[in-house]
Amino acid sequence: MNSKIKLGILGGGGDSLIGVLHRVAASMFDKYELVGGVFNLNWDENVGFAKNIGLPTNRIYKDFDTLIAQELKLPEQERMQVVSILTPNFLHFSMAKKLLENGFHVICEKPMTTTSSEAAILKETLQKAKTVFAVTYTYTGYPMIRQMREMVKEGVLGNIQKIDAQYYQGWINPIIHDTEKRSNTWRLNPEKSGLSCCVGDIGTHAFEMLEYVSGVTIESILADLNYLYSDNKMDIDGTILLRCSNNVKGVICTSQIATGEENSFVVKIYGDKAGIKWEQENPNFLYLMEEGKPLQVLKPGHTYNSELSLGGTKLPPGHPEGIFDAMGNIYKGVAKAIHKEPYNSGEFPTMTDGIRGVSFIEKAVASHQQGNVWVAMNEL
Ligand SMILES: NC(=O)c1ccc[n+]([C@@H]2O[C@H](COP(=O)([O-])OP(=O)(O)OC[C@H]3O[C@@H](n4cnc5c(N)ncnc54)[C@H](O)[C@@H]3O)[C@@H](O)[C@H]2O)c1
Repeated sequence: MNSKIKLGILGGGGDSLIGVLHRVAASMFDKYELVGGVFNLNWDENVGFAKNIGLPTNRIYKDFDTLIAQELKLPEQERMQVVSILTPNFLHFSMAKKLLENGFHVICEKPMTTTSSEAAILKETLQKAKTVFAVTYTYTGYPMIRQMREMVKEGVLGNIQKIDAQYYQGWINPIIHDTEKRSNTWRLNPEKSGLSCCVGDIGTHAFEMLEYVSGVTIESILADLNYLYSDNKMDIDGTILLRCSNNVKGVICTSQIATGEENSFVVKIYGDKAGIKWEQENPNFLYLMEEGKPLQVLKPGHTYNSELSLGGTKLPPGHPEGIFDAMGNIYKGVAKAIHKEPYNSGEFPTMTDGIRGVSFIEKAVASHQQGNVWVAMNEL
């Protein structure tokens, strides 16, 4: 019998950025079988894309509600078990809620929802559903990020005293100065993106990552956002100060108008014994800076790495792995959870991370709008 997990996908069509990443990730460890979905609301593009990737079209649906209705008519052993939500942000909540209410496992793109009140409803829905819910903060899947987390936990850095993440992109620069291009970009439209562009799209990755690797809790924030034009409703740059548990302080610098930057996500954690640094554009290098010692560079696949890190490496050292592999590792962790196999809590971000990520976006905008004041990060 085919024991692969039956996967459906919402969004992620041929015109999308993130679709290919999820499809490759799902196929990477032979744990999932893509059986259908709604890739696009345009029927010809939806079905045309399914044919292009060699997928039978009998489970390609015209819209999300039809997917749910038709899948529920199938015997349970044939039905989709997990559905990945890869649509623009404003659709995540309604899709995730209905999927959970109907017993599906969910893999949801970030930001999980566009408001905290939606996130709170999803939390309650999941408590009843008792299915698996993952939020794809992709970068946590990198082996050297997982190694960073484990080294911090083991105390290699000593007591943490500063956390720092920079996430700089430049792709909005050629768009933001042109009102027509601006109006055609969903990330700059509050109805589709939520109340933030830059913090919601990439600042949330930085926030989640700092808590993931450092183990500290970010307790309050002060944000200074930049909208560049008075008729632009969405932030496209921001600097956010952090006050954390154990008196740790830190900063998140995030921008989509850092001209010339591609996907420059840099994470740095400093303790009283050592500092540690990672750069997304060179993800196979982890820099350890111990007090009074020469710089060390750690790489994936070596036995000196932790079990969590090694579990995310497929090839011997020296064979570079990248973002597809990072997402593949997250899908691998979710498969373990669906199969009720033991797994490390670092193997995939959960709804708890999704809730905090949404709260961070709201608090950053609130802090800025209230005149750059400190705002507490409330738990739901
Ligand atoms: N984890 C990451 O690193 C990462 C990176 C990029 C994007 N994302 C997230 O992924 C999501 C999608 O981003 P993107 O850049 O791929 O967007 P995109 O605009 O490139 O693609 C969106 C896709 O959704 C489809 N779609 C729109 N409405 C739909 C509907 N009602 N039903 C079914 N399909 C529909 C579109 O046809 C398109 O294929 C966003 O939430 C974004 O924040 C995450």
